[in-house]
Amino acid sequence: MRIDILTVLPELIEGTLNHSILRRAQDKGLVEICLHNLRDYSTNKHRRVDDYPFGGEAGMVMQIEPIDRAISALTADRHYNEIIYTSPDGEKFDQPMANTLSLSENLIILCGHYKGIDYRIREHLITKEISIGDYVLTGGELAAAVMCDTIVRLIPGAIGDEQSALSDSFQDRLLAPPVYTRPAEYKGWKVPDILLSGHQRKISEWQQEQALNRTRILRPDLLDE
Ligand code: ADE
Repeated sequence: MRIDILTVLPELIEGTLNHSILRRAQDKGLVEICLHNLRDYSTNKHRRVDDYPFGGEAGMVMQIEPIDRAISALTADRHYNEIIYTSPDGEKFDQPMANTLSLSENLIILCGHYKGIDYRIREHLITKEISIGDYVLTGGELAAAVMCDTIVRLIPGAIGDEQSALSDSFQDRLLAPPVYTRPAEYKGWKVPDILLSGHQRKISEWQQEQALNRTRILRPDLLDE
């Protein structure tokens, strides 16, 4: 899989890409993540990529030309499954969407900034608009980082135990059951006996029951859906 990220602030994402699972997945050749500075596609001598909005409102708008040039350069070389724009008014990012996107061969993620981007980009170049939640970030870089992390860990081989990506919270629209490790007792706080019993079928039943109970209490909306 290849993910191309278009941004005016590559430094904001770099750190996330160079650590832990995302770094290892790249080192193993499971994913190639390429950061592109949109200023490199500006024809302006000051490398500007934004301008004042028509209509005279406050704030700056990202221009169409550098973004079109960047996207055109990428799409000339390969087919992209989606050209994504990060925006608070996009479709809400969730686990099923991450699962689908993790099957892609190539993705572009365009990070929004300033007041927004020239709307013609959204009309003519973008195939999917994604929000990571109902709040407004300063820019789309953190949203892109969240999406990359969520998607890449689903690629087979990216995390040690493939089974554990499938048993994550939300994968079956249930929250994950509690987990414990040694010591079995700390300050008198005990690990549930069932987990120490060695009885695998009963342990699985207990975990299912816990997952259901936690979901019922903490996120009943998941069960309604
Ligand atoms: N850009 C600003 N806020 C955002 C959000 N909530 N999701 C995705 N991109 C954003």
